[in-house]
Amino acid sequence: MSPIDVAKARRETPGCESVVHLNNAGASLMPDVVLQAVIEHLELEARIGGYEAAAREHDRVEAVYDSVARLLGSSRDEVAIIENATRAWDMAFYSVDFQPGDRILTCGAEYASNYIALLQVAKRTGAVVQVIPDDEHGQISVAALEVELARGARLVSLVHVPSQGGLIQPAAAVGRLCRAAGVPLLLDACQSVGQLPTNVGELQCDMLSATGRKFLRGPRGTGFLYVRRELIEQLEPPFLDLHAAEWTGRETYVMREDARRFENWETSYATKLGLGAAVDYALGWGLDPIADRVQGLAASLRTQLQSLPGVDVQDQGVEKCGIVTFTVEGVTAQAVVARLSAEGINVSLTPASYSRLDLGGRGLEAVVRSSVHYYNTDEEIQRLVDVVALR
Ligand SMILES: Cc1ncc(COP(=O)(O)O)c(C=O)c1O
Repeated sequence: MSPIDVAKARRETPGCESVVHLNNAGASLMPDVVLQAVIEHLELEARIGGYEAAAREHDRVEAVYDSVARLLGSSRDEVAIIENATRAWDMAFYSVDFQPGDRILTCGAEYASNYIALLQVAKRTGAVVQVIPDDEHGQISVAALEVELARGARLVSLVHVPSQGGLIQPAAAVGRLCRAAGVPLLLDACQSVGQLPTNVGELQCDMLSATGRKFLRGPRGTGFLYVRRELIEQLEPPFLDLHAAEWTGRETYVMREDARRFENWETSYATKLGLGAAVDYALGWGLDPIADRVQGLAASLRTQLQSLPGVDVQDQGVEKCGIVTFTVEGVTAQAVVARLSAEGINVSLTPASYSRLDLGGRGLEAVVRSSVHYYNTDEEIQRLVDVVALR
């Protein structure tokens, strides 16, 4: 495994010249190749017309599905390109035909939008949401999950890397249990794609949702959904249109057989091409070298922050990722974010309302969320630490 050429990565990332960007869990800095893919297609649309540009670039647009499939280790017909991770997740989740009493198992680190959807579906259908407790490391208890799966469940919803901390859930262990129990696993990989290998065969998930703009470094307003082939035909999406299905007669329609039944007709071709460029760019570096560098930088940041008086690193889990969250005694998270921003350092704020069970359960009102990527440097980390130290 050859290490990341950081100088090259920075040369290829225009934003590195103007900011210290430690908000890759929010939206990463796009590399130039992504930016150009988007701009070039917009320019083509302006020059020759939107439909005509899509037709001319048909093969390149189709190749985006191959790229995402390569990233996930799936086949292209199991991939739908959707405008963000939330809608991708929704299209899978709301396709399940829940019945009264069906059990939906989830974790304490569940993402707010997913949990709201779980509550809505439970209210509408009589399904029951059950939160699997965390183990002593703050990750989903695999032992407790096994017990609950034995009692029967309709779906397991797991967030691979939660928005609000450095935790990497033991997703492959969860996948193994779900597969053995015959219960579909819907994996929210929004924060893991682009910073960790996310092979659906190894993770044994049945559905996976992700976004383009975070660690994948794609444009905003992009995302995708993977659905295992055997499951596609069992799922009728909550919305259908003339792209997802064919209107075959006065009373009839037939859904597409591939995962594009979860898409809709109108879409941004420019950002779709940008997403494809971002996936190819990530694959070019390799997900193993990316993960290695990201985890090394994050570990160093945690160690340095934890050594500062009054600073508490809030990350949980046995294995940790590029997200580093912390609190500063006597200073609100908002004030820390503002102070860093004034120094040209981008981080973000995660309030408890983004993850009531997790942050709320730990009595945290908010945390400062910094998140490193492979193009960040030790000097940039030092700058963040120096500003936080000035309290
Ligand atoms: C874990 C997780 N899931 C889902 C989402 C939603 O992604 P999107 O904004 O692309 O819909 C986020 C966004 O922060 C997230 O962190």
